[in-house]
Amino acid sequence: MEITSFIVMDILERAKELEARGIDVVHMEVGEPDFPTPPEVIEAGIESLRHRLTAYTQSVGIPRLREAISCYYRDAYGLDVDPDRIILTPGSSPALLAAIRIFTEGGKVCGLPDPGYPCYKNMVRFLGGRFRSLPVDEDTGFKVLRHQLDGVDVLVINSPANPTGAVYSREELGDLLEEAQSRGVAVISDEIYHGITYSEPATSVLEFTQDAIVINGFSKFFLMTGWRLGWMVVPRRMVRLVQSIAQNLFICPPAAAQYAALACFREDVLAQLREKVEIYCKRRDFIVGALNDMGLEVRVTPQGAFYVYARVSRYTRDSFLFAKRALEEAHIGITPGVDFGENQTHLYVRFSYANTLDRLREGMDRLRDWLATL
Ligand SMILES: Cc1ncc(COP(=O)(O)O)c(C=O)c1O
Repeated sequence: MEITSFIVMDILERAKELEARGIDVVHMEVGEPDFPTPPEVIEAGIESLRHRLTAYTQSVGIPRLREAISCYYRDAYGLDVDPDRIILTPGSSPALLAAIRIFTEGGKVCGLPDPGYPCYKNMVRFLGGRFRSLPVDEDTGFKVLRHQLDGVDVLVINSPANPTGAVYSREELGDLLEEAQSRGVAVISDEIYHGITYSEPATSVLEFTQDAIVINGFSKFFLMTGWRLGWMVVPRRMVRLVQSIAQNLFICPPAAAQYAALACFREDVLAQLREKVEIYCKRRDFIVGALNDMGLEVRVTPQGAFYVYARVSRYTRDSFLFAKRALEEAHIGITPGVDFGENQTHLYVRFSYANTLDRLREGMDRLRDWLATL
């Protein structure tokens, strides 16, 4: 089976080996928040364990959490989403897998942004499906355009995007969805980085269509990566099918994670989470400035998520070797563009700024010194 390794995980493992030998590594490769889960959420999880709520839950998740997510759509987006259409999953990854499987049934072709989140293509491969890369670049702000839907049956949209931080405006998203609808292209919208945006809040495709499958979860904005909890919003006609998939494949999402997640929607907790976004924003401004000063160009300022996709063509035409050497020689962890596809990806690397400003400063200092030796 042709599944490529998730290079960022390889880099992380090598970084851990160096650290075990006492070497200090500045991590800018990891794709998860550096902040712990809010204490109120942890407490809610512990409380559920104290109450011995350790059994399987409903396969689609506990009703209270599905309702809480429905209220969140109303409060944060002004959208009316019936809790029956909200299905909780063990992380958003299994939700993506299910969505891709449902829509690619019968040999349909999945259109994936390139560069884009590497697991999409590996999930399609794992499911025996077919995909087509949709090249995105700086000229279009790393966004898919309507004419690129030729030959595509299913479109995966990811806004804010990994690895570029691109965020589609409401108009851009509406335009793309209009085209998808007119061509009968099914849409999977991976909205896992919603909540982490720096100018306009991200628009959900649910504003335009109830026919798409929307993927979201508690890993990024809600700071709960290790709890493994995600959700999907599915078209009404698919509720029963997705419920059966959840019953057979997942049994149910982790119980403690679900009870903990209920606390995420408290106003005081949401306020804490929004503060973290302000912190990310300061880090973004710092790192984009530092990289541009070094000639690692960031031509499109990321508007969401916690990644910067920088051009390294001034120094190399091999982003993999560049990232490898940066780790071994400068002790900084970064992810080579080649992890994210094939479209010019040898000329880019991704920096994650899910790390403190002090550590990012240290990382940029090391990078500057190392570049001077090349
Ligand atoms: C774009 C994108 N989608 C989905 C995921 C998976 O997240 P989860 O922890 O919810 O499985 C990630 C994780 O990095 C991601 O970057």
